[in-house]
Amino acid sequence: MMEDKNTIKDKSLVLVYKNVDDIDIVPLDAEAKKIYNCKFGVFPHSLFVGKQYGAQIWSADHKGFIYALRPTSQLLTASLAHRTQIIYATDISFIVASLELKSGSIVIESGTGSGSLSVSLARAVAPKGHLYTYEFNAVRAEQAALDFKKYGLDNIITVTKRDAINDGFLHDPSIAKIAHAVFLDLPNPWNAIPHAVKVMRPYARLCNFSPCIEQVQKCIEAMDKSGFIEVKTYECLSKHYNIQPTDIKSLSEMTDFGKRKKFPSEEQKKEGESTEQEATDSKKIKKMKKKGMATPYHSERGHTGYLTIAIYPQ
Ligand SMILES: C[S@@+](CC[C@H](N)C(=O)[O-])C[C@H]1O[C@@H](n2cnc3c(N)ncnc32)[C@H](O)[C@@H]1O
Repeated sequence: MMEDKNTIKDKSLVLVYKNVDDIDIVPLDAEAKKIYNCKFGVFPHSLFVGKQYGAQIWSADHKGFIYALRPTSQLLTASLAHRTQIIYATDISFIVASLELKSGSIVIESGTGSGSLSVSLARAVAPKGHLYTYEFNAVRAEQAALDFKKYGLDNIITVTKRDAINDGFLHDPSIAKIAHAVFLDLPNPWNAIPHAVKVMRPYARLCNFSPCIEQVQKCIEAMDKSGFIEVKTYECLSKHYNIQPTDIKSLSEMTDFGKRKKFPSEEQKKEGESTEQEATDSKKIKKMKKKGMATPYHSERGHTGYLTIAIYPQ
């Protein structure tokens, strides 16, 4: 029998959507009688169990409602706590595609930061692959490990507290030459490149994210010295549109309206011609169906960083 993936089960992870800027990540535990509380009321976890992902759920005290969403990589990135600058969905999708990640890939990442990219890397390589992520800040490394456990990704991600620049990635000798891909998001990534090559298998890919072009230049020089080929730098910019229902006219309706070429003369107005015309127009407007109008999103993200992708052939 096909597994029903649309119904929320106990112990699953749910994103509690209150509004676009307020989404909580909630691991359900109805069995332990856990309760989720927010300004919209009291939600025993049992209220979620058996509902479909996307359902509107009213609080037990009828104060308000939330939506229970499926934890996609994009929504997790939008809802996780920002302890550092994070990598967003536009760059993430390009990184995952350029590194050619698939189930079974082994990826090395540093720094872990808030774990935004780590979540997508892990989901791309699951269930057979693995992500080794390195973070030298003890608090961030510990919090990231707790978050990955909460998201059910702890079997796919190993977080190591380590200075990737000074100590490299070989915390365990079995990691030598196993990586299909390495990703760097560090202030001085050029110093990590000689370490990266020690963990990369032949024809593995490296991707570096740097906000400034001067960092990109230094990184490319280091890649060149280490023997990388096919070095390419990209900047990903996306444009997000809001789609809203509106009374906007179609071209044919506009042409129809345009039939009244001249404004009515003062005499015509006196004779009531103008008001007749206005009444006809207003009837036509009422008859129009609402159409979707796309307007650019008000707070668009501009430059985030440059992505440099290269292949290590040895
Ligand atoms: C911009 S954040 C990474 C954000 C991450 N890509 C995300 O999407 O959430 C950079 C991280 O690198 C860590 N870091 C800086 N230098 C490091 C080093 N030498 N070794 C390991 N981590 C380092 C910082 O502590 C910081 O958490």
